[in-house]
Parts: sequence; C-alpha cells; structure tokens
Amino acid sequence: MVNASFLKPHSPILILDFGSQYSQLIARRIRDLGVYSEIHSYMLTEKELRDIAPCGIILSGGPDSINQQHAPKIPKAVFAYGVPILGICYGMQAIAMQLGGQVQAGKHAEFGFSKLQIVDLPQALKPHSLFSCEKTVDVWMSHGDHVSALPPGFYVEARSGKEIAAIMDPKRRYYGLQFHPEVTHTPQGQLFLKRFVFDICHCSSNWQPKEIISELIQDIRQKIKNEKIILAFSGGVDSAVVATLLHQAVGEQLQCIFVDTGLLRKNETQEIKSIFLEKYHFKLSIVDAKKDFLNVLKGVFDPEEKRKRVGEMFIRIFEEEAKKYGECRWLAQGTIYSDVIESSAASYGAQIIKSHHNVGGLPSRMNLKLLEPLRYLFKDEVRKLGLLLGLPKSWVYRHPFPGAGLAIRVLGEVTENVLEKLRIADAIFIEELKKNNFYEKVSQAFAVFIPVNSVGVIGDARQYAPIIGLRSVKTEDFMTASWSDLPYEMLATISRRIVNEVTGVSRVVYDITGKPPATIEWE
Ligand code: XMP
Repeated sequence: MVNASFLKPHSPILILDFGSQYSQLIARRIRDLGVYSEIHSYMLTEKELRDIAPCGIILSGGPDSINQQHAPKIPKAVFAYGVPILGICYGMQAIAMQLGGQVQAGKHAEFGFSKLQIVDLPQALKPHSLFSCEKTVDVWMSHGDHVSALPPGFYVEARSGKEIAAIMDPKRRYYGLQFHPEVTHTPQGQLFLKRFVFDICHCSSNWQPKEIISELIQDIRQKIKNEKIILAFSGGVDSAVVATLLHQAVGEQLQCIFVDTGLLRKNETQEIKSIFLEKYHFKLSIVDAKKDFLNVLKGVFDPEEKRKRVGEMFIRIFEEEAKKYGECRWLAQGTIYSDVIESSAASYGAQIIKSHHNVGGLPSRMNLKLLEPLRYLFKDEVRKLGLLLGLPKSWVYRHPFPGAGLAIRVLGEVTENVLEKLRIADAIFIEELKKNNFYEKVSQAFAVFIPVNSVGVIGDARQYAPIIGLRSVKTEDFMTASWSDLPYEMLATISRRIVNEVTGVSRVVYDITGKPPATIEWE
C-alpha cells in the first residue's frame, strides 16, 4: 500500500487497523508528537512491513471479538519484526490471545469513563511502565472482552476493578491497553503515547511542517524537472496549498485551471482572482462555465446523479481548457491522507455512502502523470503548511466545500434563481458566525435550500414560500459529527436577517441531527 516514499525515511510508527473508528485519530496524535505515522490494514504483508520499516507498531481496536472463529489476527511477521508493539483494546486482546493468554467476554460491555488502579510494580520493572507513579488514572473504555489470563512474560500494569486493564512484557517491549489513549476523554492519553513513542520506541521528532515543506519542494523539483504541470484549482484549502507549494517549487511551470461552475459561494470567484491572480501572480486561467453546469443540471433531482453530471461536465471543461497547454505531461491533485485511507478502507469492505471526487479518472483519460504532494498529510497538517507557505489565515481555515458545490445544497432541481437565494442566505450565516467568533470553533457550517413551501407573513402579506435550513457541525474527521450548540441569540439574528434579506423565504430551520444517522451534507 502507501508509503511516503517522496520524503526522506521518517521511521514511522505503523498503525495496524483492525477496523477501529479511532485509527485516524491515533495516527494524528502520533503526528502531533512530531513523529510520522501511517495506517495500514492488519492484513499487510511481510514485504510491506519491511518497506515501511517502522520503529514501533500500534494495533488499533476493532469491532470483532478475538474468540470468534474468523476474528482478524496479528500477522506473525509483526511479532517477528522485533520493534515495540502497543495493542489498544482489540489489539491488546489479540496480543494476549496469540501469545498464549486468555480473553473472556465481559459480563457486560464497558463503555465510557473508568478509573484505573495502577499496580505498584517491583522496582526493576518500573522504568518499563507506560504509567507515571500516580495511583489512579481516568480513562475512556469501549470494549466487550477483557484479558483474563496473561501470556508468559507479561505483567499487569493497571486494573479496572478486578479486571486487567493494562499489560506489558518488558523484555519484548509489548504493551496492551484496554482503554483508548487517543481520545480526549482520556486526559493523560497523550502522555502514555508519548512515553511509548519516545522512551520505548526511541523515535525521533522529525515530522515538522518546516522540514516537510522543504522536502516536498525538493521532491517536486526532482520529479517535474523543467516540465510543465497543470492543476485543477478549486480554491479549497487542499488545492490552494498544493498550488502554493508547486508555485514555490517550479514557479511559472505551473498552470492552474479554475472552473467557475456557478455552484460556488458568494463572491468566491472574485476572491480567488484577487488573492491568487492579483496578489500571488499564479498562472491561473478562469473558465466561466456557469451556463454549461446549469444546463446539465436541468430537471435533475437525484443527488448522486447531480454529482455524476457535475463531475462529468467538470472533466469535459477541464480537458478542453487543458488542451491549450498541450505540452503538459503532469497533473497535480490535492488528495490528502484521509482520502487515501477512505478509499483503501473501501477496498477492504467499508461502504461508500456518497461518491466524492470530481477528477478521479482524469489522469488515465488524459494520459497524464499524477502528482499528489499532500497524499500523506492530514487536514490539520495541510493547514499548518498553508500558513507557513504564506496563505491568508482566513483562507487556510475555510470550511470544506464539496466538489459538486451548491448543487447538493439545493435540494431538488438547481436553478439560477434558487442558487442566488441560497448564496445570500449562506453568506449571512457565515458572516454572523465570523462576527461572533464561532466560524473557527465549528468544523463546517452552511445553508441549504429546501424547496418545500411553508406559510409565512412578511409585512402584512401572506407568503407561501420555500425554507432555508442551517447546518453547523463539529467533527475531528468528518466521518462522524455532532451538531453545533450555537447560541440562540445568534441563531435568532441569522434567521431574522435571512428572512429580511432573501426574497421569497419566510422560514429558517436549524438542523439538530448528528452524523450518524444523518450525513453532513443534506444530499
Ligand atoms: P457527508 O455529507 O458525507 O460529508 O457527511 C462529509 C464531508 O465530505 C464533504 N462532501 C463532499 N466533498 N465532493 C466533495 O469534494 C462531494 O461530493 C462531497 N459530498 C460531501 C462534506 O462537505 C463534508 O465535509
């Protein structure tokens, strides 16, 4: 699978994923410590393991029970490799079971906060422990099974009531935690991970934004040499960071193409012109394709059909424009690590709920070589790079925006009239969030257009008109999210302003559904 081969060897912490919802979070916590980490399926081969050359391995949790017949197993090569191993939850149970211990189904599953009692280890073992000398620690548990008998060579480090909650084998440097150190509900979790990464695995802290930028620039120059490269510039954070990085690496060899689909937010094209064209002097061609997109969306109601049509039209227009730069052999793309993980998770069974990408098939169709410099970076790392590269903070911290744009925020048929209403409502919402310092506190906020008429009274007149919905969520990874608890007073102002400033809208509703069960976008 993947390896950040474009960078100098970074001796990563390898995270083996057993299907945990927290695997990405573990990787991010490790990277927060300045240590590179990669997530791979637990099914990786010995060759892949050797190529990655980790300095330590973390086994994630997972939904299975190790006592089930077909429960996923830790590959033998992982134990044979000889670096320290930390098993979390299922990872711990798999270690215990495979090395000769026993695991039992708990009388009841343990979810939520728990207070662990740290075992007073013999003096000789204390330096090997993951815990400091405190007697108790608060942790977050989420499991059904527990280790009931230790494998040879292991000691108990902590208990939850009578049950084993943390184990270690100081000789082989194997550790197991029944709780989740990666979640914020375990207040000292980062300390335990830090101890594992630095004191047990002896990793060095060389994953820092400044170094990453200079390595990326070097790599881009080496690959591109004096050739030309094109980029589908969407204006989003990822593509803006790729563009800036490439601009610094190969300057005028970069040609950005921005397709104005007409499905963008208020003033977006104008802002892109003034920042990237006028201020940074990118070679940026702006293609006005508003009419083409409106035409192709006429009479379309189904969300996936909208995505498909927007994607196809985008490719057609981009290809047409790119022909003008016929000598180009390279295409740059703002793929980030979560995209890579999501598509590889999908390849081993996870379900795809919505199709997300506009330019997926482009490189092979156009016979272009693909360059994805952000392929190994998480969103927060991309943002840090963006700031260091000199992009405006307001741009770097913009909320994500889907490729299909407002087409999937207008429920039902997309028309210019409706888009205009939605743009105004959305801009009011965002303006008020910024004014009240809430924009950066939430992860994504936007308005949706609901084409269902409801009765209202505007002035003295009865109005039977469509509805504007407001959605604001907080999330770490956009895979799950909770709705934001925004102050009523602010919501009241937003609602009043929308009804007053958007003609033909007399009702505003606020979405109070988490993900799951709802997705973040309404379509
Ligand atoms: P959902 O709606 O799946 O969204 O909970 C999760 C995140 O993905 C974004 N999203 C998209 N991004 N093309 C994109 O580039 C799409 O078609 C698309 N659909 C959803 C969404 O805005 C959220 O950040």
